[in-house]
Amino acid sequence: MLSPILALLFTTATAAVTIDWDAAYEKANASLSKLSQNDKINIVTGVGWNKGPCVGNTAAASSISYPQLCLQDGPLGIRFGGSVNAFVPGIQAASTWDRALIRERGQFMAEEAKGCGIHVLLGPVAGPLGKIPTGGRNWEGFGADPYLQGIAMAETIEGMQSVGVQADAKHYVLNEQELNRETMSSNIDDRTLHELYLWPFADAVHANVASVMCSYNKINGTWACESPYVLDTLLKQELGFRGYVMTDWNAQHSTEPAANSGLDMTMPGSDFNGGSIYWGSKLSQAVSSGKVEQSRLDDMVRRVLAAWYLVGQDSSYPSINLKANVQGTHKTNIRATARDGIVLLKNEGILPLQKPSKLALVGSAAVVNPQGMNSCTDQGCNTGALGMGWGSGTAPYSYFSAPADAIKTRAQADGTQISLSASDSTSSVASAVNGADVAIVFITSDSGEGYITVENHAGDRNNLDPWHNGNDLAKAVAAASDNVIVVVHSVGPVILETILAQPNVKAIVWAGLPSQENGNALVDILYGDTSPSGKLPYTIAKSATDYGTSVSSGNDDYREGLYVDYRHFDQADIEPRYEFGYGLSYTNFTYADIFVDGRPTSGPATGDIIPGGRADLWEKVVTVTVTITNTGTVQGAEVAQLYLSYPESAKTPPKQLRGFEKLSLEPGASDVVAFDVKRRDISIWDTAAKEWVVPAGTFNFTVGASSRDIRQSGTLEVA
Ligand code: BGC
Repeated sequence: MLSPILALLFTTATAAVTIDWDAAYEKANASLSKLSQNDKINIVTGVGWNKGPCVGNTAAASSISYPQLCLQDGPLGIRFGGSVNAFVPGIQAASTWDRALIRERGQFMAEEAKGCGIHVLLGPVAGPLGKIPTGGRNWEGFGADPYLQGIAMAETIEGMQSVGVQADAKHYVLNEQELNRETMSSNIDDRTLHELYLWPFADAVHANVASVMCSYNKINGTWACESPYVLDTLLKQELGFRGYVMTDWNAQHSTEPAANSGLDMTMPGSDFNGGSIYWGSKLSQAVSSGKVEQSRLDDMVRRVLAAWYLVGQDSSYPSINLKANVQGTHKTNIRATARDGIVLLKNEGILPLQKPSKLALVGSAAVVNPQGMNSCTDQGCNTGALGMGWGSGTAPYSYFSAPADAIKTRAQADGTQISLSASDSTSSVASAVNGADVAIVFITSDSGEGYITVENHAGDRNNLDPWHNGNDLAKAVAAASDNVIVVVHSVGPVILETILAQPNVKAIVWAGLPSQENGNALVDILYGDTSPSGKLPYTIAKSATDYGTSVSSGNDDYREGLYVDYRHFDQADIEPRYEFGYGLSYTNFTYADIFVDGRPTSGPATGDIIPGGRADLWEKVVTVTVTITNTGTVQGAEVAQLYLSYPESAKTPPKQLRGFEKLSLEPGASDVVAFDVKRRDISIWDTAAKEWVVPAGTFNFTVGASSRDIRQSGTLEVA
């Protein structure tokens, strides 16, 4: 991992931005004094839906050369862009467990945003966390674990802001489902809130995120965008956030309560789904009548200006042009993340392919959408090969490499004959598969944002089954061929039991959401040009009910507490089909020589509040090292994972991810991985003391190839 200093200086084609909040606030204060009251109101108020070039826009303030701010979706690239790359979704980036690729993805997306004159790119996403496996927008974020989400948030934000674009951590917080997202209340206890859902936002703040988007839902009965506890106490005081809070689009419900609880900017301003205007003239009146202090308005403006100065947007920023060609050579990152995010779930000696003489490809997902790769608004359909989910968090493809095209091209080199049935009908399987030595069947599962319904899925998925009769299709192929490879493109877990019950299914390739490099990335893995190195960022269960969470029809009381995804499977002793962190390779790795070093003391966190919370929470207190050896015959990369078990008295889940390192090794080579464990990583939230506390007792540090494939363990006594 880069040191914080190096991280800030992370080099780009142009000079990297130096992040300095104090300097930014000094400039913001100087500018504040030159603004009229009207300017101030304008800087925090959106101009209205569809009334500017971007999905969110404010008004310019000429006295300080402040531009009309452009806020644009989204978390994987530039929505409505003219000539942009569609990067892989967050879930695929997380699936690589590769910090450098995740950071580069953030940087490249921001380079495109900057080229289009976008000031604020609306991502990354850490809410939803993904506690509900069918949750419609889980794929926009980084998987069902706060530690993984947190690292990916920080890398993305630092990558983005290093080139001068403001990042926006969203949706803050507890927006775990699409159904009723604008009416429901997420009711949660303080410990669960801190240890799971707030956690990745703390990483975002620690990474100096410029802005945060409050979510649509209520939290314990109060709207997220007017909750003094969530906005002021937690975000601004406890986490020391110095940037600004904007609403999700039309997530505001009041003027004074919102202003006085810590909301800083309203979006989009008006006319969105018939929404009302609560800022603008209403905010102005509230200030003149004393219901909102002038100092609060000044604080809002100061925060917005400071974020703008923070990333250097006051000097020669490009003007807005969403149609600019900004693709550059960024597709290298898409190919790499699409490929390295592929998880090999099962392989009975069939992969990599060995020059088959005839290869059959089956399924509508083998080919690009026949109506056109961008024919559905906000990717709101699941027709043809799948590259991402649907909704505001999408971007148009500039090209689309479909599996059949990429495989055909590659097969020519081996003289392999290809037969294709680009249909999900079982009746065309037999003729396509006839005479093939290997058959590959493509299945999918999709989800998205609730304003679009696709094949009866209103955002959230209705179930965890493959779409388009995927189980029947795989069964039909397995009935016609002895050597079947199932390729799954999916937003999240799918129940694979029917497919696994077919003995002729020799391999399952979990190809996730590879965006526009779908086919190319798959070929890299199928043909063994790269050994698979992705690991699941969520659990694949044997049955949908095993997760213990589902979409709520009313409010959600978060009764499962800390026990989501693998934390729940471990606690309830439920055997998953493929556990969190799981993934095979074409080579083998051994783990040896664990060493746990450190002498942390028990007790509460101390120190000043810095961005991210109390200073000492971010200090390294334990180092765990392990030696990993590639004992196989091909080059490969392993994601070594550190899981921590707390003393029993802490009443925590049996194990929790607290470190991961990906390392690439030649056959026979070894290397030492070091996990830096911070004070936060061994703390729990003490609800009574309202503070992070390290419990006394025995901590068990385990290192393995997944959350259940533990290879090494060591203990540490905390006095
Ligand atoms: C989504 C946000 C998005 C905004 C602007 C909302 O519906 O929840 O993620 O940034 O729209 O498009």
